[in-house]
Amino acid sequence: MSEISWHSHKIDKVQRQELLKQQPRLLWFTGLSGSGKSTLAGALESILHQKGFATYLLDGDNVRHGLCNDLGFSERDRNENMRRVTEVSKLILDAGVIVLGAFVSPSRQQREWIRSQFSENEFIEIHVATPLDVCEQRDPKGLYKKARAGEIKDFTGIDAEYEEPIAAELTINTSKGDLGQQVHAILEYLLALDAASAA
Ligand code: ADX
Repeated sequence: MSEISWHSHKIDKVQRQELLKQQPRLLWFTGLSGSGKSTLAGALESILHQKGFATYLLDGDNVRHGLCNDLGFSERDRNENMRRVTEVSKLILDAGVIVLGAFVSPSRQQREWIRSQFSENEFIEIHVATPLDVCEQRDPKGLYKKARAGEIKDFTGIDAEYEEPIAAELTINTSKGDLGQQVHAILEYLLALDAASAA
């Protein structure tokens, strides 16, 4: 929009980041419904919070109650969902805060677009690669059952595709191993990145 110019304010991302003494990042949990994205993101947020990091968890289910409550699950609506949460994430990162995003985000192209909106090492893709049969067995919200019965259309993993990441920074299968160890592995990855950027 050529009639609207950008106003640069006195306090910027670098100053906010210095005040909070942390490197803002977007930790993007992608995977099927029921794969454990929210559980992992929530457990990681608790540890980061205890360690004194300022965080914010953007959860697909919650965001769809407000900011995105006009959107469904068509390709167009999912793209718009991604666009909005990406813009919100940018604002929160600009405030110096670490964002944990838990979204099915089934499109590889969309996730690559999100990555392109952030600088290197700012966007960390975490593939929650729990197999479909396990997610379906868990079926915490009864949605797989409805999707199999044809009561819900375009359900990811059933009649809508989930495109697995090719080069996620981390891959976690919550059907194996222990939640504490998995959260710890993400934490170690983050702390190593922080150490590298501080060096
Ligand atoms: S995304 O595809 O646009 O990234 P998002 O993460 O916001 O999805 O929302 C997914 C949540 O909505 C799932 O956890 C599930 O509970 C619910 N849901 C309802 N309908 C669908 C559907 N057709 N496909 C996937 N998830 C759905």
